[in-house]
Amino acid sequence: SQYKVGYLIGSLAKGSINRQLANALIRVSPKEFEFHEISFKDLPLYSYDYDADYPPEGKAFKKAIEDSDAVLFVTPEYNRSIPGGLKNAIDWASRPWGTNSFAHKPSGVIGTSPGAIGTAVAQQQLRSVLSFCNSPQMNAPEAYIQFKPGLITPDGEITDAGTEEFLRNYMAEFHQFVRRVLTVLPRKG
Ligand code: FNR
Repeated sequence: SQYKVGYLIGSLAKGSINRQLANALIRVSPKEFEFHEISFKDLPLYSYDYDADYPPEGKAFKKAIEDSDAVLFVTPEYNRSIPGGLKNAIDWASRPWGTNSFAHKPSGVIGTSPGAIGTAVAQQQLRSVLSFCNSPQMNAPEAYIQFKPGLITPDGEITDAGTEEFLRNYMAEFHQFVRRVLTVLPRKG
C-alpha cells in the first residue's frame, strides 16, 4: 500500500546540500512512498506560554506530522548537533503536554556534510531526542553521507553509482521498516 512520508530538512539555507540529498532520496525511493515536505521555517521560538492557545502555525505543523505515516529527517550537523530551527520544530510538535505528535510515529534519520563523518554526531543527538519523543526509529542501515562537490545535482540526480545504490537500499529498508511498524502500531483514526 501507499505510505505518506513527511520529510523535514534541517537546514533553512537556500543552497542546502541536505535539500539536494532529500531530492535524491525521493528519486530512488520505492514507489509505495508519497512525499511531502514539512516546513518549520515559520514557527516562532517555542515556549510553554503558547500551550494554552496554540498558534495556527503550531497546530498546522503538528497536523502535518500526524497526517504522515512516517517522518524522515534529512539534516545537517551544526556545531556537532542538530540545527536550532529543527530542535525548535521538534519541541513544537511534542507539545502541549499529552499531545506529542511523534508518539508511535516511525522515523528515519539521514544527513550530509562536507566533513568526513557526514553528520554522525548530529544524528546521534537527534536519535536521543526522538527516543524521548517515543518515535520508533529505523536503527539500521545508518547513512552518513560525505558531500563532495557534484555528488548530487540540485534537483537530486546522484552522479556516483555506489552512492546511488546505497541510498536506494536505504530507502528500500526504510519502506520495510515503516511497513513493519505500521503493522503492529497502526495509525490512529
Ligand atoms: C557547520 N558545518 C558543520 N559541518 C559538520 O560536519 N559538523 C559541524 O559540526 C558543523 N558545524 C557547522 C555549524 C554552522 C553554524 C554551520 C553554518 C555549518 C558545515 C556544514 O556541514 C555545511 O555548512 C553544510 O553545507 C550544511 O548543510 P546545509 O545547511 O547546506 O544543508
